[in-house]
Amino acid sequence: MTALAIYPGTFDPFTFGHIDITRRAHRLFPRLVIAVTTNSEKSALFSLEERQQIIRDATRGMRGVSIDSFEGLLVDYVRRKGARVVIRGIRALSDFEYEFQMALMNRKLCDEIETVFLMPHEKYSYLSSRLVREIALLGGDVSAFVTPMVEKMLKERAALHGAGHPSPKPRR
Ligand code: PNS
Repeated sequence: MTALAIYPGTFDPFTFGHIDITRRAHRLFPRLVIAVTTNSEKSALFSLEERQQIIRDATRGMRGVSIDSFEGLLVDYVRRKGARVVIRGIRALSDFEYEFQMALMNRKLCDEIETVFLMPHEKYSYLSSRLVREIALLGGDVSAFVTPMVEKMLKERAALHGAGHPSPKPRR
């Protein structure tokens, strides 16, 4: 039986960077669960259900990849799933401190679980869900960062928020 790995995150929304990490993780772990959760420090733009729907759409055709959600501690969820590996993406040195702290804290909580860090393609090193949300809500083009489904959902959300007015064309 091949090892099961869990790729947790808030994924608000899932970007091309997350898809890249999913592909890399899937090569190493043919059984991979992408586990969406809420982060007490961040208020989400999309509901858990919407975020799962987005990930399902983005990972269609990846056999062995499934989508789930959880509440509470990550280590408890990982244990419940019978897994021992947590996948996290690291884009740049700036991610390292937070990720290192979280990995070591999780290890303290459960010594059997290992965190495996993967680096996305460097073309995604500046990409973050937070920036994608901000750009989209201000009417910017995010088609280079997210799937068409997410782009459409972001546009709808921008319209709801009363934002999304494209910046006026500069006069010539
Ligand atoms: O995508 P994010 O927001 O960087 O993901 C962070 C996440 C969800 C992996 C982290 O906040 C988490 O594990 N949350 C579950 C609660 C938990 O276990 N907290 C203690 C972490 S040491």
